[in-house]
Amino acid sequence: MAQEVRGVIAPGKNEPVRIETILVPDPGPGEAVVKVQACGVCHTDLHYKQGGIGDDYPFLLGHEAAGVVESVGEGVTDVAPGDFVILNWRAVCGNCRACKRGRPWYCFATHNAEQKMTLASTGQELSPALGIGAFAEKTLVAAGQCTKVDPAASPAVAGLLGCGVMAGIGAAINTGNVGRGDSVAVIGCGGVGDAAIAGSRLAGAEKIIAVDIDDRKLTTAKSIGATHTVNSKDTDPVEAIRELTGGFGADVVIEAVGRPETYKQAFYARDLAGTVVLVGVPTPEMKLELPLLDVFGRGGALKSSWYGDCLPDRDFPMLINLYLQGRLDLEAFVTETIQLDEVEKAFERMHAGDVLRSVVTL
Ligand code: APR
Ligand code: ZN
Ligand code: ZN
Repeated sequence: MAQEVRGVIAPGKNEPVRIETILVPDPGPGEAVVKVQACGVCHTDLHYKQGGIGDDYPFLLGHEAAGVVESVGEGVTDVAPGDFVILNWRAVCGNCRACKRGRPWYCFATHNAEQKMTLASTGQELSPALGIGAFAEKTLVAAGQCTKVDPAASPAVAGLLGCGVMAGIGAAINTGNVGRGDSVAVIGCGGVGDAAIAGSRLAGAEKIIAVDIDDRKLTTAKSIGATHTVNSKDTDPVEAIRELTGGFGADVVIEAVGRPETYKQAFYARDLAGTVVLVGVPTPEMKLELPLLDVFGRGGALKSSWYGDCLPDRDFPMLINLYLQGRLDLEAFVTETIQLDEVEKAFERMHAGDVLRSVVTL
């Protein structure tokens, strides 16, 4: 029997979001229904609403979530009703070339739930944001999208690991391989950049240089672990980073904006043998022009980081445990908790740069 729950949908391009009654079917084979306890408000949800991620309206928004498994379908053994879980964007297959080579984050056959949630009023199928759709009292996902973690963590904090915070921490510890004693520069200190700072600190970086054009962001970055800050509105960040690193450039530069000028800064701010990690997502029309001789002449690595190259079952429980031990401050990322009907307002605050994360709690 499908259950009726309340959920936040984006009905059409640029239309305000609204709460609707949605129907959540019983879990089919390999699926789970999760009672959502918390879900962060992320830029990607706003992009869905604005039409930046296709036109499969209506979207059921929300994708940075934690909750408790309510029921599971046939064949599900990894999670059980009552488990406290963090949701991830897609279950990996375990069988494709990428999975078999031990790089499941590049899995070619990821999947979400096969059944669809629908709008109670019209019967229309809903497209869940990133295959999750968790601005809702309950949601249907593939069981492989659920990772069990220690229930001692608060849902608001745990949910954030499902997207932006994982992307940032993972950019530092997984993609960038930041190590003890490294110098790191992070360009763009929103939620993702700040998480990269937290990850670099966790990994034992000696210098963590935060770069942003907004002084408010630099203040927060410092409280999260930046050792130096550079406002790139009035200072050339490449020069500043070189100066702070004995003239060499940073061992790892993490770009968390997604614009051509900051990609370029990241490229030149690294040590000749350093690593550039690109985690900011550009738009399709953006281009980067570089002298080939500079590309050739600089060694090291240029890497992009997708979802922090995370393995949810490996990384979520580990980061939750580090948080519970007091070694990783995840609370710092939760600016406010809000109700389901306040998502539209939260988008405005996010857009204005007033919050790191607003988290809907249920
Ligand atoms: N130079 C430096 N910092 C900049 C610049 C610039 N030219 N332009 C913007 N910024 C800063 C903003 O001031 C803000 O602090 O970049 C930060 C971006 O943060 P948010 O808008 O909060 O975005 P966030 O959620 O952190 O995501 C950043 O990572 O995963 C991707 O899609 C995501 O592309 C986005 C990026
Ligand atoms: Zn696979
Ligand atoms: Zn997100």
